[in-house]
Amino acid sequence: MIYLDHNAITPMRPEAIAAVRAALDVFGNPSSVHQAGRAARDLLDGARARVAAAIGAAPGEIVFTSGATEAAALAIRGTLARSPAGRRRLVVTAVEHPCVLSLARALEREGTPLTVVPVDRRGLVDPDAFAAALGPDVALAATMRANNETGVILPVPELARAARERGVPLLCDVVQAVGKIAVDVRTLGAELAFLTGQKFGGPRGAGALWVANGYPLAPIFGGEQERGRRAGTENLPGIAGLAAALELAVGARPAEEQRIAALRDRLEEGLLAAVPRARVNGAGAPRLPGTLSITLEGCDAEALLIAMDLEGVCASAGSACHSGSTSPSGVLLALGLSEAEARSTLRLSLGWTTTADEIEAALRLVPPLVERVRREIR
Ligand SMILES: Cc1ncc(COP(=O)(O)O)c(C=O)c1O
Repeated sequence: MIYLDHNAITPMRPEAIAAVRAALDVFGNPSSVHQAGRAARDLLDGARARVAAAIGAAPGEIVFTSGATEAAALAIRGTLARSPAGRRRLVVTAVEHPCVLSLARALEREGTPLTVVPVDRRGLVDPDAFAAALGPDVALAATMRANNETGVILPVPELARAARERGVPLLCDVVQAVGKIAVDVRTLGAELAFLTGQKFGGPRGAGALWVANGYPLAPIFGGEQERGRRAGTENLPGIAGLAAALELAVGARPAEEQRIAALRDRLEEGLLAAVPRARVNGAGAPRLPGTLSITLEGCDAEALLIAMDLEGVCASAGSACHSGSTSPSGVLLALGLSEAEARSTLRLSLGWTTTADEIEAALRLVPPLVERVRREIR
């Protein structure tokens, strides 16, 4: 198998698997005062300190969640619940993951005003347009650090400056950025940020929300876990695996960033040379090292994926959330691609297990399949 779908999920790191296994034996409830509870509490506190250190946060700023979607919902709903009546509007970029964009649209239907800031052809948000969307009626603005489909890195420092100048708190989705590019919440300029384990070699179903010290966030009501901010018994094995993977991914990042960028560039150049009428999305913008979104004119991406899968190459069309769905990727449409172009777009994403041999094999296998699909499916 040649696995080129790391933006959807990347294989768990052996150390993270070991950490999950070990934590399964720590059966106590961290809220219990007896020794079994204390052992679990120690594990939880240790994981919290490691996650915090990996992203430049203080341990007390980390709220463990079941992943990015829950973290985003907690951040958005928890902010709105504390916002005064005249300050209810949300501002989000047009390329946010559905965990932000779908929730914002659902809230809009329930009466929360929403402004969606467009991106340009490269997938970048203009800081002036972002600033123009902000105002005293805005409860929260949201931007991702890097896009899951195109890999485009958004100008978060500039967007954060605009938000700060206008007194608007900023939520940043760093899901695809952590472990791939430098992420330090102290310099991000946001008040809230979130990540999820399966994107950097941790388990799925475990994530974290960073809440800047002193930020007023309303809780999920229930138990008093996570300092009363996220009720529910903690997923200790998931959290232990998350911490182990994050530490490794962040530690390996400087070398991996270069190694993976070189492999992606080789894949990109090879495909552009071998496949006529191919175009890279996000070209001209700063991009994550391992993501390649490529539009193959006249080639049905779903059919191509099936053909690739039969040859052992795993990739995705648009994002995983869109595979199997009939609607084209909203992110690609936001970049100005036509529906036909969006449906002819392949996402190849590399990760910590990717080797040069895999890239060479993909370069041998994929171009003839593109030609076959172009010929057979019109
Ligand atoms: C940029 C981004 N944000 C959020 C998510 C959602 O993560 P989770 O499935 O852990 O909630 C993903 C996962 O695909 C993502 O790529």
